[in-house]
Amino acid sequence: MKTVIEPFRIRTVEPLRQTTPQEREQYLVEAGYNLFLIDARNILIDLLTDSGTGAMSTEQWAAMMRGDESYAGSESFLRLRDAVQELTGFRHVIPTHQGRAAERILFHVTCRPGHVVPNNSHFDTTRANIEQAGARAVDLLCPEAADTQARLPFKGNMDVEALERLVQAEGRERIPLIMLTVTNNSGGGQPVSLANIEAVKSVAARHGIPLYLDACRFAENAYFIHLREPAYASWTPKQIAQKMFSLADGCTFSAKKDAFANIGGFLCTNDDRLAEQEKELLILTEGFPTYGGLAGRDLEAIAVGLGEVLDPDYLRYRIASTEYLGRLISEAGVPIVQPPGGHAIYIDAGRMLPHIPRAQFPGQALAVELYRHGSIRSLEIGSVMFGDQARHELLRLAIPRRVYTQSHIDYVVEIILEVNERRERIRGFETVSEPPFLRHFSARFRPAP
Ligand code: F0G
Repeated sequence: MKTVIEPFRIRTVEPLRQTTPQEREQYLVEAGYNLFLIDARNILIDLLTDSGTGAMSTEQWAAMMRGDESYAGSESFLRLRDAVQELTGFRHVIPTHQGRAAERILFHVTCRPGHVVPNNSHFDTTRANIEQAGARAVDLLCPEAADTQARLPFKGNMDVEALERLVQAEGRERIPLIMLTVTNNSGGGQPVSLANIEAVKSVAARHGIPLYLDACRFAENAYFIHLREPAYASWTPKQIAQKMFSLADGCTFSAKKDAFANIGGFLCTNDDRLAEQEKELLILTEGFPTYGGLAGRDLEAIAVGLGEVLDPDYLRYRIASTEYLGRLISEAGVPIVQPPGGHAIYIDAGRMLPHIPRAQFPGQALAVELYRHGSIRSLEIGSVMFGDQARHELLRLAIPRRVYTQSHIDYVVEIILEVNERRERIRGFETVSEPPFLRHFSARFRPAP
């Protein structure tokens, strides 16, 4: 049996709306060629993000009916706390409305001006929250990751020698914590090995610095370890995930990814004093520590989702289906970040469209073309998002969890290959207007002359 099927059947459906090429052209003009500004009903296949876009299971919906909406001490919180502690072993579980709220609280409490926070690669909200606290966010991704074409198993790893050098240069007292993002979203959805987590932990422990996981996609990372790190081939994803968390002193988590929830997150720590400060801030801005800005029913959905995501059949399907998209387009000559990531395929638009200079945004041009031709929404991760700091001109196709079937993905492949056939004719863009921060959300463009 070679076919990896979707390990679920579909009992509730959401119709998709077809649009005509003329309509899409009009929506593009109205949106200033920014796909964030197009209404979702005018999109056929939405690969903008895998965050909060997953389908919940019958068990999650059933659990939501049990939601205890008590302001303090809700049963739903106790169920979430127990599920998180069983998985992570952390002493304190602090719910938040999503991942970036956990980040804001963590960095507000731990960071001061002059501090430095290293990570394999910071996600943009993580970086922004560190900078907001006056500290500096430093990426220490392993050098092998610079080559998008190198097919290596753990391109999300941190450069441990660079970490050691950074600690020596800055001094332990200026580094309040070290982070590892699993999987590494900004770097192509690539996993971090357990050997690397152990090596980072050993540097952290030697200098007395706490290690935190940005654990959004912990289950996908655990499955890659199961597949690619021989010592763990016989371990279950849950055992591997437990081992990953056991090496850390805390974590931030967006439940919108590997907990199949549409909203939610949490912050964990083993440090009692820090937990007190974090809860004080939580009460100020998110809510009482037994709900943290969420409804009791949201806490239930997360508690159930954390168990479901570690099902080996689900993870086998998840990793195989993302790989399927990556393999079909790369075999037909479309350059992607190799190997395929866990939650997304990243097309190297800079390589695919070498005739479009960086200043004319090849990733954005490709995003517009996929929408124009096939009503597919994707996300530019290049010079539009990062300006001069962009290392590559990428286009991310993020796959929502349990939402699209193989024929949807076959359609996406077909559209990408048709666009690839006539790639020489794709033109670049120039900026018409842009806000001072996070410009990818609202900038407007026009075709370059
Ligand atoms: N960390 C990582 C690695 C992420 O990918 C995200 C969100 C966050 C933190 C923040 O979590 O959205 O719940 O506040 N990533 C989404 C994405 C938005 O599309 O990749 P959040």
